[in-house]
Amino acid sequence: MRISVIGCGYLGAVHAASMAELGHEVVGVDVDQRKIAALCKGRAPFYEPDFGELLQHSLASGRLSFSTDVHDAAGAQVYFVCVGTPQKRGEYAADMRYVEAAVESLLGVLASGELVVGKSTVPVGTAGRLAELVGKKVPGAMLAWNPEFLREGFAVQDTLHPDRLVYGLPADQDREVAERMLDEVYADIVARRTPKVVTDYATAEMVKTAANSFLATKISFINAMAELCEATGADVKQLADAIGYDDRIGRKFLNAGLGFGGGCLPKDIRAFMARAGELGADQALTFLREVDNINMRRRIRMVELAREVCDGSLLGKHIAVLGAAFKPDSDDIRDSPALNVAAQLQLQGAVVTVTDPAAIENSRRQWPQLDYAETPEEAAERADAVLVLTEWRQYRELDPVAFGAVVRQKRVLDGRNALDREAWTAAGWTYRALGRRAG
Ligand code: UDX
Repeated sequence: MRISVIGCGYLGAVHAASMAELGHEVVGVDVDQRKIAALCKGRAPFYEPDFGELLQHSLASGRLSFSTDVHDAAGAQVYFVCVGTPQKRGEYAADMRYVEAAVESLLGVLASGELVVGKSTVPVGTAGRLAELVGKKVPGAMLAWNPEFLREGFAVQDTLHPDRLVYGLPADQDREVAERMLDEVYADIVARRTPKVVTDYATAEMVKTAANSFLATKISFINAMAELCEATGADVKQLADAIGYDDRIGRKFLNAGLGFGGGCLPKDIRAFMARAGELGADQALTFLREVDNINMRRRIRMVELAREVCDGSLLGKHIAVLGAAFKPDSDDIRDSPALNVAAQLQLQGAVVTVTDPAAIENSRRQWPQLDYAETPEEAAERADAVLVLTEWRQYRELDPVAFGAVVRQKRVLDGRNALDREAWTAAGWTYRALGRRAG
């Protein structure tokens, strides 16, 4: 099939290369010239395990190309819309300008019988509105909504081996044609009997926001339990293990710590609340406000904990922050809890040095006021406290004995409950973590 992908960020670039890997002829389009130049040369514009190899392999096959000109997207059977829907500045609602612009630009190249497929996370109701626009401007052209569920750090795997496919299809006679076209796009995945949910636009849009809201709620639930553990002396890690053995609950996404960040969960739950308000159904989602509040409180608690271990004052204290990305195996710092804590510590007078295996360059650009170091040892030189705020493998595997020789004070704050408490305390460190007793 001939496929075009509009928007070559995390989602779009991985989707374009993956579709080429599945055997399709793919053109990826983005307005960002630097991004397209890098992709054309086979260089990933962001850190994502396995993506570099996939990109080079797909380019070498001759089935994948990139362009900044939407006219190069013309002539495809399917056009995926993979642009971002960030949070509007100062508001909860999603900023839809990139989706609007992408669809607008497609109207100039679309022809009858072709299918536009939205993958971006959008407020429920968007697909219906866009389908009307597409049908009016290009009679015979169709629209479907096909949300993606990829996680950063596992983007390639999640795209090529998704745990389900969701098709939001038109209600009219185009329904069958659109379904057949999507089945052809995902032929290999469909053939593996991957569960498929075929539904209407609104349900497909809501599947994505509901899934992300559930995940955020699960994280905030365990973090609320962590608050209680702090008040009672109980241990949230053991609690999570014990409730997680119940397979109705499950252990995944019950890791207590600094909470969720990134370009999806925080903005998606807020946009969902905003949309519910517009629909007069805000009461249904008031709990998400609490989910957000619990999440943000963890960051404040982390700063308090740092102050506590630093004898009640952060003024002039040297603090090493290990981790800047919002999660390991990513260079993404959007709404990163780690950088938020680092900035708060600095505001309270601490001398903060941040390190990260992949996200320093991005961090420097956005948070130039912080100091950076290449390695944990460099960051922790003469530190009064070390905070592990993103659980990169490199940090989980630090040798507490050797690392202890670098710092001024052996105090470690485990913001992700990722370290071996016994090993660190045995090496003479004061160990503190969210939701767990001091070690
Ligand atoms: C998320 C969804 O998982 C994915 O399905 C959707 O398509 C996009 O949004 P992503 O933002 O890449 O993916 O990250 P995810 O792995 O979900 O983690 C989100 C945040 O939650 C991270 O900051 C992570 O550190 C935090 N988290 C995750 C916890 O604090 N505890 C957990 O148990 C799990």
